[in-house]
Amino acid sequence: MKVRRRSVRVFDAKDDISSFIIENWRETSQEAIERKGVFSAALSGGKTPIDLYHKFSGVKKMLPWDKTHIFLVDERFVSLEHRDSNYRMLKETLLDHVPIPQGNIHPVPTDRPTPQISAMAYEEELKKFFGLSKDQFPEFDLLLLGIGEDGHTASLFPGTPVLDDSIHLAASVSMDEMRHPRITLTLPVINNAKHILFLVVGKNKAPALQKIIDQEDTSLPASMVHPDKGKLIFVIDREASGQLSI
Ligand code: 6PG
Repeated sequence: MKVRRRSVRVFDAKDDISSFIIENWRETSQEAIERKGVFSAALSGGKTPIDLYHKFSGVKKMLPWDKTHIFLVDERFVSLEHRDSNYRMLKETLLDHVPIPQGNIHPVPTDRPTPQISAMAYEEELKKFFGLSKDQFPEFDLLLLGIGEDGHTASLFPGTPVLDDSIHLAASVSMDEMRHPRITLTLPVINNAKHILFLVVGKNKAPALQKIIDQEDTSLPASMVHPDKGKLIFVIDREASGQLSI
């Protein structure tokens, strides 16, 4: 039987959320670097983490940026300068303000002819960085994930075929209601991470969180996130916790 290492932390102040995540990042990076000399994290887009990303510039000296490698959890199939690009947001809010070497940043290569080819190229980048052979999955030290009102996480949306992908490391996702096709890490990659933080704020997320945390309703993709060997922490604000039984 799998041992679930899952916890929920509820905060009243935005600043306390950021401090908690940064402290988790500091400890996780220190532990990873002591163990293997390098720390790898995959970060989410969306609006929620923007405030957190801004906070990193205030603590930049505390963190080992030269040994830190940053990947994207998901990306829109647009140029890296496009206003909808997660990479652009991450660069403007975080990466431009900390001393991370350019070679340690691993954007999704969206300059390919199709989203499928982009996903394949991202998969190659992951294989190269993690030194993977066939059938192996990368082990990220830290993943920062968000949750949408419909329970999606990364670009894993309810009812989409990518949820059944047990082979690829990255995949393309297209839906009618999307402005751009997307490229996302797949569930096996997410569930192979050592440490996952879900950052969720706001009343509008309360119904989804109730289904994910209280009911473990697997029709919501975020409920399918169970790191096999790592730990999972929901870092949420009081409003998002409004419908939880805890
Ligand atoms: C993205 C994501 C996505 C996001 C959720 C929550 O690029 O949009 O990685 O999964 O985390 O949609 O987004 P908000 O933080 O904007 O609510």
